[in-house]
Formats: sequence, C-alpha cells, structure tokens
Amino acid sequence: MSAATRRLPGRLTAPEPGWTIRADVVIVGSGIAGLTAALRLRESVDSVLVVTKDVLNAGSTQWAQGGIAAALGPEDTPAQHEHDTLVAGAGACDLDAVRVLVGEGPDAVHELIALGTRFDHDEHGALSLTREGGHHRDRIAHAGGDATGAEIQRALIAAIQAAPDIEVIEHALAVDLLLGHGSDGRDRVAGLTLHVMGEGQRDGVGAVDARAVVLAAGGLGQVFSQTTNPAVSTGDGMALALRAGATLRDLEFVQFHPTVMYLGPDSRGQQPLISEAVRGEGAFLVDGLPEEGGVRFMTGVHELADLAPRDVVAKAIMRRMIETGRPHMWLDARHLGGEFWERRFPTILATARSHGIDPVTELIPVAPACHYASGGVRTDLQGRTDVPGLYATGEVACSGVHGANRLASNSLLEGLVFSRRIATVIPDEIEPWVAPAADRRTEGLVDADVRRELQETMTSRVGVLRSAPGLSEAEVLLEKLAARSADLVDQASWETTNLLTVSTALAAAASLREETRGSHWREDFPVRDDDTWAGHFDVTMDDGALAVGFAPMPATDRAPQEDAR
Ligand code: SIN
Repeated sequence: MSAATRRLPGRLTAPEPGWTIRADVVIVGSGIAGLTAALRLRESVDSVLVVTKDVLNAGSTQWAQGGIAAALGPEDTPAQHEHDTLVAGAGACDLDAVRVLVGEGPDAVHELIALGTRFDHDEHGALSLTREGGHHRDRIAHAGGDATGAEIQRALIAAIQAAPDIEVIEHALAVDLLLGHGSDGRDRVAGLTLHVMGEGQRDGVGAVDARAVVLAAGGLGQVFSQTTNPAVSTGDGMALALRAGATLRDLEFVQFHPTVMYLGPDSRGQQPLISEAVRGEGAFLVDGLPEEGGVRFMTGVHELADLAPRDVVAKAIMRRMIETGRPHMWLDARHLGGEFWERRFPTILATARSHGIDPVTELIPVAPACHYASGGVRTDLQGRTDVPGLYATGEVACSGVHGANRLASNSLLEGLVFSRRIATVIPDEIEPWVAPAADRRTEGLVDADVRRELQETMTSRVGVLRSAPGLSEAEVLLEKLAARSADLVDQASWETTNLLTVSTALAAAASLREETRGSHWREDFPVRDDDTWAGHFDVTMDDGALAVGFAPMPATDRAPQEDAR
C-alpha cells in the first residue's frame, strides 16, 4: 500500500528536565485501566508511579454512564457476548482478543465488586443488568443508575489511596518517552519526560527513569468540535507512542455516539451524553415534535430498532437530519415517568434540566458526536506494543476487541481485563535499568491557536460522514496547520501538537479506507468491501515522517464476523 507521508514533530520541544525520579513502572493515566494496572502491579514490582494530566478522576471513566458489559446473567454466556461484540465490530475485530475480553470479563467485574464498587441490585438482591445497543441480552452492570463510571472511579481511587506504596503525581502531562538500548540492542523504553504543574522540586519539566511504561492515557475526542470526552482527551498517549516507534491501528474507526444532547450550533467541547441505556429502558427516536407529526424512524432500519449497534443508529440519525434539514433528532423518554427517571437516570435528568429540557415532559434534542476511539496503540493480548517496555491499555490502546465499532459498555471492561493481563507479564519482562540515549528526533511544536481550526476541519471533513473530496481537503488543511510553529512552549502547544499528530494519522487512514465499515462511513464508497479492505491501517512514524500501511486480516479471523446491518 502506498504510504502517505507527512512531516510532524519527531518529539515535542520542551525544556531539559530539571529533576529526575525513578520508578520500576510508570503508569500514564488514572481511569479504570491505569488504576487497575497500578493496583495489580504493586503486588509484584517494587515501585509503581501513576502520573495523570489533571486530578485522579478527571478522565473519561468518571463520565461513563451506561455501565460495564459482561456475561453475568443466568442465561448469558461469554459466547453470546462474543457474538454481539463481533457483529458490532463489523469484521474488523481480533477474534482471540474478543475471546479474552468476554471470557475474563465476568471474573474481572467480580474483582471490581470485591474491591468495593457498589453496583445496582434488583429487589431480590441480584445484580441489576440492563441492555444497550447491539446486545441481545441484559448484560450491562450499572451503578448509581447512570453513574457507573463515577462509582468505579471512586472505588479505585479509594483503593489507591489505601495503598501508600503507589506514588501519584497529578497535573502531570507526559511529554515524550525516553528510549535507551535494551540487552538485545533494540530501542527500549527507559522512562518518560513529564511536565508537572506543581510546587517545590517537582515543578516544570522532569524525567522519570522507568523499566516499563504503561499507557492508559485515554482517547482523542478533543480532535472534534463536539465530543462526549472531557477536556483532557487530547490524544497525548497515542501521539507520544507514535513518536517513539509504536504503531497506531484502526484510527479511522472513531465512534460517534448517536444520542448526545444537542445544545445548539455553537456549542463546543464536551457535550452531555444521553446514555444508550435510556433506549435500553424503552426510549425511542423520533424525527420531529409530536405537534409536527414526528415519527419513529429506527423500526425498519434494523431488527433491534432503537437498540441497533450504535454506528447503525448514528447513521440513521444523520440520514434523517440530512433528509429533513434539521440539526438534530429527538429522543422520547417521557413514558418512563418522573419516578423512574429520578431513580434510574438521576445524572442525565439533572444535566438535561440544567440545559432547560425536562425529559419527563419534553423530548430531548440529540445528535451524534464523537465518543470513542476504537483504534489506538496496537497491542498484543498482553498489552505489549511494538516498543519493548511500552504497554498500552484502555481507550489509548487497540487490542483488537472493538474492530470497526465498539459494542456498548465494552470499554470499561477492556481497560479492566487487559490491565490485569499487563500486570501479569510485566514482572517477568522488565529488564535492568537502561540509561536514556541521546534523543536525535527532530523537535517541534505547533501553535496552540490552530486548535479550533483543526477541530472544525476534522468535524466537517473527517466526522460522521466522509468522502474523498472532504478527506483530501482535510489532509491539505492539516498540513498547513502543522506548518504553524508555536512561539510559546506550554501545555496548550504540547496538546495541540498531539491533537494535530493524531488527526493527521486519522485523516490519512480514513482517506485510504475506500469502503463503509462500522463507524467509518464513506459517502462515496457506501458498502463494506471484504475483498479489498478486510484488514487494518497501521500508522507509524520515523522522526516525524508519517507512514500508513495496510495489514490484511488472517482469514481465520474473518469467518465468524457479520455485518451489523
Ligand atoms: C452509554 O451509556 O451510552 C455509553 C456507554 C458506552 O459508551 O459504552
């Protein structure tokens, strides 16, 4: 496959480290993936350090509403969960990875419960399980009604705080990885550089010498103008891994959540999510207000109607928006009633009301917005990346479980299951300390002022609906933005450079995939084409030069995977 090449910074311009500390393993990120890895690793390595860009609970885990999926119900099985995951993944999942996810999922959730996570129970004391798009069984465990992520995050933080041997540094942006030479002569992770907004000795840029680094730094939602992701999701983990020689896989498969509350054309940044679980409890989509004769439009589109996999629902909403010329559709959940809303979805109810909509009596305006990166740093079944000593887990990673479209509520589970796996292999794989070698990558930094233009370019040309002219325009515009160097060396410029790096990689892969599959929707290539495109786009970087290659999938992985439509 011909390679698209773009020049980007080979490393971020930053002051020389003013201080150095040491840890056997440093974990970047503090959501379910990062904290699970930390808690497990403390049992087997001497020193574990968690670094996180904001405070411990500022990442995406905290915002997860619907829940965590696992075959926990009496009639459910991992095989059924596997089937639904593969169908949603639209022929791009790694079968072995999916089997690990669904097979180890129930145990992993029980471990979360043992740790102190308080999931919701029914009146008989059984774990309360609900359904979301693409699931044929009730298998989503939830907490606080619609505050599952917040409860999991609370339990994990409590466990971390009770483990004094785990050091935590907050307000710490991972700038770049440090590389040294391993015993086999190959490049190997030797730690990372960090910028800490702190006080005293740990302020400004410093270095952490480490024998292994676990990336659990979350996604890239801030690449787009509207996203359900928090402000910290600027693709930092993916960008620094790419610069260090890791491979990014499946980046074009960005999931757009169908029902994000529409706050008007000028609303930017993190937008309120209306969980799929609301549809799981019986809400449905309509294309107009009752007095305008609005009708349901998901029946007839898919056998699961409003609970079809989310790429199917997002596309159906977009199609109706285009046909009707409206900027959004509506979710009707009035029949659930006030008491049910209060008990089951208290967070969503309060958020909607704070924006002037009462879901008990009114329809909720909704439109798709960026929600989840199904791709990321390519890993094997133990979370290993292509760079020795570098591991990745959670949204930053591409373990192969999501394929072209993540099944609802599989994301928390992925972070949990693969972090446990990473923690089992690291103790045997860490090598003696290696000294960081001189960094010969070309440094650079993009002006923070380009961020809004970058987001608008990605939203209008690399968003839900894609086509060759828009994608080519995006690539040209992104290249122009890359040429705008920053005068200021600061967090805003580091983040913007990371956003531009992952945007360029994402747009290149989206442009090359000339088919429609899962969450990648090409207007000009509207059907899935397994003869040509059953496989993955892999993006690599050599000192700032980006290359994209196509890796066909093994035939054994293709057979059982159906199309969601
Ligand atoms: C939701 O609650 O709809 C989101 C769940 C998920 O992204 O898996």
